[in-house]
Amino acid sequence: MSSRVVLTALSHLLLVLTLASVVPVWADEKQPYVTSPPSSSDERTTNQVERQQTQPFNNAPLWREVRSGDPGITQVKGIETGVLVQPQGEAWRTLRNGPVILYGGILLLVVPAAILLFFAWRGSLKMHSPPSGRLIQRFTSWERLIHWLTAISFVVLAFSGILMLFGKYIVLPLFGYTLFSWIAIVSKNLHNFVGPLFVFCTVLMFFTFVGGNFWRVYDWKWIKKGGGMVSGEHVPAGKYNAGEKLWFWGGVTLLGIVVSASGLILDFPNFDQGRGLMQQANIVHGVAALFYMAASLGHIYLGTIGMQGAYRAMRHGTVDETWAREHHEYWYDDLKARNVVASPSTHSTPGPRAQPQHG
Ligand code: HEM
Repeated sequence: MSSRVVLTALSHLLLVLTLASVVPVWADEKQPYVTSPPSSSDERTTNQVERQQTQPFNNAPLWREVRSGDPGITQVKGIETGVLVQPQGEAWRTLRNGPVILYGGILLLVVPAAILLFFAWRGSLKMHSPPSGRLIQRFTSWERLIHWLTAISFVVLAFSGILMLFGKYIVLPLFGYTLFSWIAIVSKNLHNFVGPLFVFCTVLMFFTFVGGNFWRVYDWKWIKKGGGMVSGEHVPAGKYNAGEKLWFWGGVTLLGIVVSASGLILDFPNFDQGRGLMQQANIVHGVAALFYMAASLGHIYLGTIGMQGAYRAMRHGTVDETWAREHHEYWYDDLKARNVVASPSTHSTPGPRAQPQHG
């Protein structure tokens, strides 16, 4: 039998032996772990008992374990019941009570201040020519109903949300704990009940107004010229100008979806949501709502004092023919092309119905 055959056999053996020696150790390792889980908690208990003798009331190791967030053993059924302290909660609290409140507060102060400065400088956007006295219908009663249902629920949510986020810093010092806690409880419940209504209205609002909000080439020109709001020049637009379309897609649709989805997660915590998901939903909800409120201030400003004749469109459903021509020229041209004639302005009688053909 040649030496080469002997050598090969020996090396194979060595390999097997090495493997054989390793596997049992590994198995051993597993073995002692599998066999001694009870002992580790026993070990822990023993350590605790010993520690109570040598260092009475020193539960530091126990609390280190509790604060690790690793689930402990408990009889209580449910989500995360074994987790006594969830470490991410600290990160959530620092984020919410830190940057979210600080930068959110700055945003909600700077935006209205900028709008007021603009109003003080530019005043209300007026029509260039006098009103014709003839009215055109701009919004149907259904469009106005959906608008005001959404708008009112939005404003209720905004005020109760601001109170829940900033109340501790603004209202509490003014009214003291008792009154503040009542205000906070009422706001929280109002928010929880009006929230789902707002979600429902947002869906209806999307389908009611989407038709007139598709982007058109001329909308870029409107954006470039800032709608003529600074220069005062006339910039033609469709039924809704590019600014309204940005409010519709960026505010009503995108932020509407984010605040609604995160709000529903927070409002209905009975789908086994863990604390982590609730904390994330809270931050996303708060940040999206802060941007939504800031954006809505621009819309509300233009829908009230910022533009002459705008408010009546959503209040009574009609606008003056001159207003339509000056602010929504392509929409007005389309009405003309379809022979939609304006009727003389008597407050109670709305003008003939107008469908948007141009965006
Ligand atoms: C609370 C105060 C509000 C006021 C005074 C107000 C006023 C107005 C006015 C006057 C118009 C008609 C503009 C036009 O003729 O082009 C309008 C349109 C509209 N508003 Fe409001 N609004 C308010 C709140 C809201 C809120 C909270 C939302 C959404 C959450 C909203 C969504 C819309 C939409 C979607 C339109 C149709 C124009 C478009 O689609 O862009 N409004 N609003």
